Amino acid sequence: MKLSAPILGLIFPRIVSAYWLPELLGEVKTCVVPKNETGTDDTPNVVRTTAECGEHTRVIFEKDLTYNLWTPLQLKSLSNVEFVFNGNVSLPDNVSYVESVVADANLYPGRWINFQGTNVTLTGSEDPKQGWFIGNGELWWPGGAANSANKGRPHFFSLKVDYLRARHLKVWKPVAWVFSMGGSHVWMTDTLIDARSEDGFPFNTDGVDMSASNSLIDGFTIYNGDDLINVSPPTTNVTVRNMYSSGGHGIAVSCASGAGGNYLFENAVVEDSLIGARFKGALGTTCDLSNVAWRNFTIRNTSYPIHFIENYVDQEKGLPPGHNVSLAAYATNFTWENFVGQTGQSLKDGSCISDPCWSSTLGKSLFPILLHVSLRKLIVIAGESTDKGMYLLCADGEHCKDFHFSNIDLKAYDGKPAEMECTGLNGVSGMGIACTNNTIALA
Ligand SMILES: *[C@@H]1O[C@H](CO)[C@@H](O)[C@H](O)[C@H]1NC(C)=O
Ligand SMILES: *[C@@H]1O[C@H](CO)[C@@H](O)[C@H](O)[C@H]1NC(C)=O
Ligand SMILES: *[C@@H]1O[C@H](CO)[C@@H](O)[C@H](O)[C@H]1NC(C)=O
Ligand SMILES: *[C@@H]1O[C@H](CO)[C@@H](O)[C@H](O)[C@H]1NC(C)=O
Ligand SMILES: *[C@@H]1O[C@H](CO)[C@@H](O)[C@H](O)[C@H]1NC(C)=O
Ligand SMILES: *[C@@H]1O[C@H](CO)[C@@H](O)[C@H](O)[C@H]1NC(C)=O
Ligand SMILES: *[C@@H]1O[C@H](CO)[C@@H](O)[C@H](O)[C@H]1NC(C)=O
Ligand SMILES: *[C@@H]1O[C@H](CO)[C@@H](O)[C@H](O)[C@H]1NC(C)=O
Ligand SMILES: *[C@@H]1O[C@H](CO)[C@@H](O)[C@H](O)[C@H]1NC(C)=O
Ligand SMILES: *[C@@H]1O[C@H](CO)[C@@H](O)[C@H](O)[C@H]1NC(C)=O
Repeated sequence: MKLSAPILGLIFPRIVSAYWLPELLGEVKTCVVPKNETGTDDTPNVVRTTAECGEHTRVIFEKDLTYNLWTPLQLKSLSNVEFVFNGNVSLPDNVSYVESVVADANLYPGRWINFQGTNVTLTGSEDPKQGWFIGNGELWWPGGAANSANKGRPHFFSLKVDYLRARHLKVWKPVAWVFSMGGSHVWMTDTLIDARSEDGFPFNTDGVDMSASNSLIDGFTIYNGDDLINVSPPTTNVTVRNMYSSGGHGIAVSCASGAGGNYLFENAVVEDSLIGARFKGALGTTCDLSNVAWRNFTIRNTSYPIHFIENYVDQEKGLPPGHNVSLAAYATNFTWENFVGQTGQSLKDGSCISDPCWSSTLGKSLFPILLHVSLRKLIVIAGESTDKGMYLLCADGEHCKDFHFSNIDLKAYDGKPAEMECTGLNGVSGMGIACTNNTIALA
């Protein structure tokens, strides 16, 4: 016997988790967003339909239509609403117009699409021809280095929702930063972001900038030119699993202040990328991160398969004046388990527009030397090489405690076993690897 959704709702009214899942509830009020018949901007209709539909509802973007968000969309104080994206939703295709909106603080709240509230569900389409969020990034990317510095680029989404259920979201050619995730209890599944470029590097096309604690992201495919995800304090309890990353800058944890942790990244394929499993602690700052694990990674043609550094400097900004360079992140109980990887032919990608490259990885005597010479000179003694599959650049054993490595199988570009570099951990035992004379041997 096949039960219809309303009957299921009667029989199992309370199987429901803490998310807004109308399909388990039977009938809910449904509203369809109409297309603008007299002008080009569909944003006012989205705002009006959502407001009129109210709480405990479902708002539908119709199949075979493209809704043009000519002005930024802000939906606040949402409560128990599902948005179903059966049709496409597009940002404007006029670069100078978008730049003028981004520059106008009255029109643009920092992201183009903003959802804020509690119990919000975003449901994309499983039809590959429908339900895309279209960014028109390909109009921006040919700008090259100038594009990377363009402050008029839009950020795509701000999701500040407690109990966000996001499923099957698809993003086509985002200009830059895609999901800025605030709130908490995000449950995101089967996401696809395609920022592949045929002309110009897709700078800053980060997948998720994660600040939502108690969250699970499962199934995430991205073709881009920046981090798949970056998680940092004070965020806690984040699991990301089943990832595919191409062209990216890593499955990343970073910190510059505060405390956080309990992050698990598992089951990833990373290829044709700059970085695989990544940690960046900002030089001259301190913070506490604990219980972080990267597990079951397959990494191919990637410049830096495992990259842990405590001396990250944003080269566009430089080291902030007055920063005390003997400060570094405290990383405790970090685990890297089941890695198979190989480096690539190059140590750079198209994001490298400065000399030295922003991703240049500093070598051996970094921390002591830093006190005496300029940053620029330091970078010149970089210890990076396509022969190295892992970099573990710690300030000292106090800052990198309780590290665990197991089943690490890394090859250099030429197929030989990869070399590995470490600092600050000479003679530390119990890590599953031995760091001797700044070189790592697998135990
Ligand atoms: C969110 O949904 C859960 C489960 O349906 C419900 O218990 C909770 O009250 C809702 N929260 C709000 C603020 O509506
Ligand atoms: C239709 O779009 C125009 C801009 O082209 C906008 O001014 C107008 O408010 C929109 N109309 C509706 C009903 O949303
Ligand atoms: C929706 O966008 C995708 C990606 O750009 C495109 O392939 C598809 O044709 C669009 N669908 C409609 C109905 O316009
Ligand atoms: C693009 O936007 C600019 C600035 O708003 C405007 O002057 C120009 O006419 C627009 N171009 C097109 C093709 O609509
Ligand atoms: C951690 O987050 C997951 C995913 O949302 C959740 O199921 C779990 O209850 C959270 N754990 C704690 C201790 O809050
Ligand atoms: C390891 O990750 C790969 C790629 O995501 C996946 O296919 C495989 O099932 C994972 N293995 C385990 C034991 O989970
Ligand atoms: C390796 O990855 C780079 C991108 O980082 C790509 O340009 C190159 O074609 C890839 N090489 C192979 C052999 O796939
Ligand atoms: C270390 O982290 C792992 C998860 O990565 C966790 O299971 C374990 O309990 C942590 N150990 C301590 C001592 O907190
Ligand atoms: C820099 O930080 C170190 C370590 O915390 C501390 O010992 C030192 O006094 C600080 N130096 C200055 C100038 O603040
Ligand atoms: C340490 O490594 C350097 C090269 O990086 C080498 O010159 C030196 O001999 C090594 N020292 C020992 C004790 O192995």
